[in-house]
Amino acid sequence: MTNNEEFQKRRQTLCERMLQSSVALVPAARLVKRNADADYPFRQNSNFLYLTGFEEPEALLVLTSKGTESQSILFCRNRDPLSEQWTGPRLGPERATRELALDAAYSITELESELPNILAGYAHLYFDPGDDQGLDQKILRWLGQSWTENRSSHEMPSSLISLNPLLSELRLHKSTRELEIMARAGQISALAHKRAMVQCRAGMSESRIEAELLHEFAVHGARWAAYTSIVGGGERACILHYVDNNQPLRDGDLLLIDAGCELAGYASDLTRTFPVNGRFSDAQKALYQVVLEAQLATIEDCVADVPYSQLQQTTDRKLTQGLLELGILTGELEELIETDAAKPFTLHKVGHWLGLDVHDVGSYSLNGQPRMLKPGMVTTVEPGIYIASDCNQSPPEFRGLGIRIEDSVAITENGPRILTGDVPKEVDEIERLMGS
Ligand code: GLY
Ligand code: MN
Ligand code: MN
Repeated sequence: MTNNEEFQKRRQTLCERMLQSSVALVPAARLVKRNADADYPFRQNSNFLYLTGFEEPEALLVLTSKGTESQSILFCRNRDPLSEQWTGPRLGPERATRELALDAAYSITELESELPNILAGYAHLYFDPGDDQGLDQKILRWLGQSWTENRSSHEMPSSLISLNPLLSELRLHKSTRELEIMARAGQISALAHKRAMVQCRAGMSESRIEAELLHEFAVHGARWAAYTSIVGGGERACILHYVDNNQPLRDGDLLLIDAGCELAGYASDLTRTFPVNGRFSDAQKALYQVVLEAQLATIEDCVADVPYSQLQQTTDRKLTQGLLELGILTGELEELIETDAAKPFTLHKVGHWLGLDVHDVGSYSLNGQPRMLKPGMVTTVEPGIYIASDCNQSPPEFRGLGIRIEDSVAITENGPRILTGDVPKEVDEIERLMGS
């Protein structure tokens, strides 16, 4: 299947799942100002990207579905030699129809005049406000005129429905092509983490390590990180989304790196924790081993027809048991699990869906029932333990340690496929790589 055929198939499937006589609107992302006349790098809206593969701002995808007929219509920017001289080529509506395998394309300047004509005569409108305020206002105005003021010359859809549940369910199940991209993203991220392990020395800044990661991503064609890299030495590893990355790395500390590249829009998500000087202390090793064993056991649950909630249960049991054995928790295991006693040290959930967004779409339960894992789904498995430096409840040797181990894992017919597995996580493997 070509790329265009895959995008067509996604649009077709979405239309088939919409109610009879429906239109869906999916806006592109906007350019966002960073400061003065400088913008943040453009990142396409994930839903729009999923359905079109089109990477320009100022665009809107319109899907119509009636009977067995469905159509894909795009509004996009006109060609403009002067703008293109400054910021690069634009596809333009004339070329968009053929190049993106659409049924029709219009200039975005025609939105106000054309879209009401397209919407007229359909019963339902699928649309999620919030991505594009300008569009939200237009739609509310058109629907409002039709519903309450009776002033519209068009017969507008009489129901407004969220598209996200349908689209999220589609995006949750990855195709072979998507899985291959995600596997490559995982490999590149693993290379970056290996580079960080090999380069790391006491006295370096966290930002230097971040630079090593970004270097490796870009060298392999993944220019952007999927999220801001977390490079936290010592007790900064206990700050879950630490992104200042500006402190020196100290001999004897652990370093937690949570960093993954984005490739062709797809995220990888990978965390490793290792000693700055290449050797784990006994206390570091003991706590690390608890997290590692929880992670390995939870990855074994990543098989078809296991409920997603099982992953959390496995992790909770393993981490609680480990904290008890190390004297950080005291009491009786079953009661500690029952009362969630490990929570102050484990803080976050064990995983999340992964795809075009790092915390990807898709519900974790279905119709009130636990969601079963199925081949084609991708989740992270990322247990962690974080002991604050002033935690009197913990024996002193564990205070100030933050450890997370995270892999991106695809569910397959043949069991878990670890997409980020090419970087060591066993203690002796890490020490060997760092000593080399
Ligand atoms: N990198 C963010 C997370 O692991 O959820
Ligand atoms: Mn994650
Ligand atoms: Mn992560």
